[in-house]
Amino acid sequence: MKAVQITELTGPDSALAHVELPEPEASHMLTPGSGVVVEVRAAGVSFPEVLQTRGEYQFKPDLPFVPGSEVAGIVRSAPGGAGVSEGDRVAAMCMLGGFAEVAVAPEYLTFALPEALDFAQGAGLILNYHTAYFCLRLRGRLEAGETVLVHGAAGGVGTASLQVAKGLGARTIAVVSSDEKEAVAREAGADEVVRSDGPWKDEARELSGGGVDVVLDPVGGDRFTDSLRSLAEGGRLVVVGFTGGSIPEVRVNRLLLKNTEVVGAGWGAYVMAKPEVNRQIGAEIARLIESGHVRPLVGARYGLDGVADALKLIDSRAATGKVVLEL
Ligand SMILES: NC(=O)c1ccc[n+]([C@@H]2O[C@H](COP(=O)([O-])OP(=O)(O)OC[C@H]3O[C@@H](n4cnc5c(N)ncnc54)[C@H](OP(=O)(O)O)[C@@H]3O)[C@@H](O)[C@H]2O)c1
Repeated sequence: MKAVQITELTGPDSALAHVELPEPEASHMLTPGSGVVVEVRAAGVSFPEVLQTRGEYQFKPDLPFVPGSEVAGIVRSAPGGAGVSEGDRVAAMCMLGGFAEVAVAPEYLTFALPEALDFAQGAGLILNYHTAYFCLRLRGRLEAGETVLVHGAAGGVGTASLQVAKGLGARTIAVVSSDEKEAVAREAGADEVVRSDGPWKDEARELSGGGVDVVLDPVGGDRFTDSLRSLAEGGRLVVVGFTGGSIPEVRVNRLLLKNTEVVGAGWGAYVMAKPEVNRQIGAEIARLIESGHVRPLVGARYGLDGVADALKLIDSRAATGKVVLEL
C-alpha cells in the first residue's frame, strides 16, 4: 500500500518519505491481536502531526513511522462483538498509521459514519469533536443557557467546540485573528465574534453581561490572564492546548478572589484506555450529528502527495476548520 512516513525529525519540509509498505495486520497497539481494519478514504491532519515531524509531540514513536491519528473509510474487517462490520462507513481513531491506504483502529475508537457526513467530514470527527465534548461538558461542566468563549475559534478544535456548545444549548463568543477566520467562526455557529488583537476581554464581559461561564483555550500564551479576567463568578477556564507557543502560569490569588477554576483537559490521556467513556462520548456526538449541530467544516484538501503542504498550512497559522487528505 502507499503510505507516508516520518523518517527524521527535521520539520514538514524534509521529515517525510513516500513509501510502499505491506498492509497492516488486524491488531492495534491498544488492543494487541485485535483491531478494525479500515480502507482509508480520507485522513485528518492536525497540530500533533506538525509537532511529530520535529519530535516535539509527547508521544514519540521510533523512526520511521506512519503518522496520521484519524481516518474515515470503509471497514475491511472487524473483530467479533465490534459495533461495526465489513462494508460499513466509519470514522476511526488509529492514533498512528492514518496517512496510508489502509489503517487499523481499536474497536472502541471506531464509530459508524452517518450518511449526513462525507468521508472528509468523517476524518475531522473524532479528535476535534470528542475533544470538544470532553472539554466543554465533562471537564468544563457546561450547562444549557451558559456562555462559552472559544479561543482559536476558526481552527479544528475551535469550530468543533462552537458547534458542540450550540448543541448543548450554550451561547458562544468566538475569538479569532482575521476577517476570513471570523467568517469561518460564524459558519460554525458563533453567536458573537471578537478579535484577538482587539479589546476582546472587555467585549466578552460586556456581551455576556459581566463575564462568561466557560473559556475553552487551545491557544494559551499571553492571553491567559485576560481569559481569567473574562470569567464570571464560578467560571471555568479549560486548558486545551498551546498553539500560541508558550505555556502560561497562573497567579492563583486570581482564582480565590473571583471564585473561578482552571481545569486541565487532556482528551487522549483520559479516554484511551476507557472504552465506556469513548462509547458515551460517541453516542453524544451521534446525537449532535442527528440534531444537525455537528457538521465538521473541512478547510484545505490534499492528496497523499500533499502531506508536507498540509502540515505547513497548519504550521503557518493559515488553516481553517479541518485539514484533510483525500485518498
Ligand atoms: N487537550 C486535548 O485533549 C487536545 C485535543 C486535540 C487538540 N489539542 C490541541 O489543541 C490545539 C489546537 O488544535 P487545532 O487542531 O484546533 O489547531 P488549528 O486548527 O491549527 O487551530 C489553532 C488556532 O490557534 C490560533 N493560534 C494562535 N496563535 C497561534 C500560533 N502562533 N500558531 C498557530 N495557531 C495559533 C489560531 O487562531 P487565530 O489565528 O484566530 O488566533 C488557530 O486557528 C493544539 O495545540 C492541539 O495540540 C488538544
